[in-house]
Amino acid sequence: MNKKIIILIVVVAIIAVGGFGFWFMSSNSNKSVKKTNNTNEKSKVNTNNETSNGKVAIIYFSATGTTRKVADLIENATGGDSIEIEPKYEYTDADLDYNKNNSRANKEQNDSKARPEIQNNIETDSYDVIYLGYPIWWGDVPKIILTFLDTNDLSGKKVIPFCTSGSSSISESLDTLKNYNKDINWIDGKRFSSETTQDEINDWVNNINN
Ligand SMILES: Cc1cc2nc3c(=O)[nH]c(=O)nc-3n(C[C@H](O)[C@H](O)[C@H](O)COP(=O)(O)O)c2cc1C
Repeated sequence: MNKKIIILIVVVAIIAVGGFGFWFMSSNSNKSVKKTNNTNEKSKVNTNNETSNGKVAIIYFSATGTTRKVADLIENATGGDSIEIEPKYEYTDADLDYNKNNSRANKEQNDSKARPEIQNNIETDSYDVIYLGYPIWWGDVPKIILTFLDTNDLSGKKVIPFCTSGSSSISESLDTLKNYNKDINWIDGKRFSSETTQDEINDWVNNINN
């Protein structure tokens, strides 16, 4: 075979092998760039789910379901974990009869030392932001909310009270909470009616976070 032809074949082979190598290297490096981007996107989504303020829980007591409904709407709006404060002894209709002086709820509200027991273990350590919900009883927080504060260290956490009521405002209960534990970063909360909509809750949550 002619010497020139042999040299030509060798040169073409070198170019072909080199070209394949270059394509292989660059396609793999593209893959790793894409992978890195995907990872970043994922962590962004996670951060958003937890909101930029940290991990969120909605912790609430509800005797007849109204506050639970609002808690569900806050869960939808925040993507936080919803946890119900379950009384060890459930409140019966008779217990909740505010027309009777000696009903259980009335007696508890009149007794500064009453701390109704909670049935479930509530883990709060992993949360940075807690929406704390309750019905208004005689203008104030039901005493079981104070039991919850006694049994969970929320120092330094951002806690946002919310309540439902027939008509009373949240203000007296906010004073009670702020005075009860001064180590908590209390955010002024809001009273909601039984007719509250998802849009109303979304607006409220967005305003708190801005
Ligand atoms: C013992 C008791 C006391 C109440 N006191 C008040 C009150 O002072 N002002 C008010 O507007 N509603 C009062 N209510 C009505 C509740 O706040 C209201 O029905 C609330 O939405 C119930 O929430 P829940 O279904 O989550 O328990 C009282 C209810 C009970 C059982």
